Amino acid sequence: MALNTPTVFNASLNFRLNWEGNFRSLEEGVESSLGNFAIMASSVDEVVSKLRADPEMVREFRAAYGIEPDRTSVLDAIATYERSLVTPGSRFDRWVAGEADAITPEELAGYQDFKSLGCITCHQGVNVGGNLFQRHGIFHPLGSPEPVLLRVPSLRNVATTAPYFHDGSAATLPEAVRIMGFAQLDRVLTDQQIAGIVAFLNTLTGSYRGQALRPAAVTPRNGGIPR
Ligand code: HEC
Repeated sequence: MALNTPTVFNASLNFRLNWEGNFRSLEEGVESSLGNFAIMASSVDEVVSKLRADPEMVREFRAAYGIEPDRTSVLDAIATYERSLVTPGSRFDRWVAGEADAITPEELAGYQDFKSLGCITCHQGVNVGGNLFQRHGIFHPLGSPEPVLLRVPSLRNVATTAPYFHDGSAATLPEAVRIMGFAQLDRVLTDQQIAGIVAFLNTLTGSYRGQALRPAAVTPRNGGIPR
């Protein structure tokens, strides 16, 4: 079964990687993506030998690591780059840092609902998620039953990453919020609660190198990551 591709932004802040949380480090994830036939169909060894054939790359690896490219340095280089893919400075971050007017009263009300309804018991911490394993569909089924146990996704930049859920089964953010309330909390949310929470989730959109993240102009086909 193919899974909805998770964003690489802020991946370094999650305690495990991928929907199933089956990778404990970025390096492990890189090695697996390179080797996965449906993703890169390559291997670390193949990458190392190609880099070693490129004098400019050899020079740059010597400058950075003091050695020719090898397994460890290549995995470290890619993981180090991934660690730079963080998106600070969302309006919510600014509000948390004390800028009282960084979010509107409606967005604040949405955040309060997010807390009082219990969303925050699973989506919490620096990445507003990404630090727990949970079942999906606790009260009512949620999308495809497999995999049963998921790493709770981060909600940073969630307004820019439709479609939603491990199987991409929710097309829009309001739909995802409505389904979450029912499936995970056994609550039928009102349209007003949904609108407020969606407004709050919109404040979690950060910037990369000074540019605010935006949804992709064309929603990529949900090819997904093979399990
Ligand atoms: C018991 C834990 C739990 C609670 C409570 C919970 N969630 Fe979730 N949330 C999850 C899990 C697990 C997923 C992944 C579900 C899936 O992909 O099938 C998820 C996914 C999401 C997504 C989609 C993220 C993406 O990138 O696809 C959104 C949005 C979301 N939750 C918002 C909320 C909101 C809003 C609430 C409160 C109304 C809430 N969640 C309550 C565990 C929880």
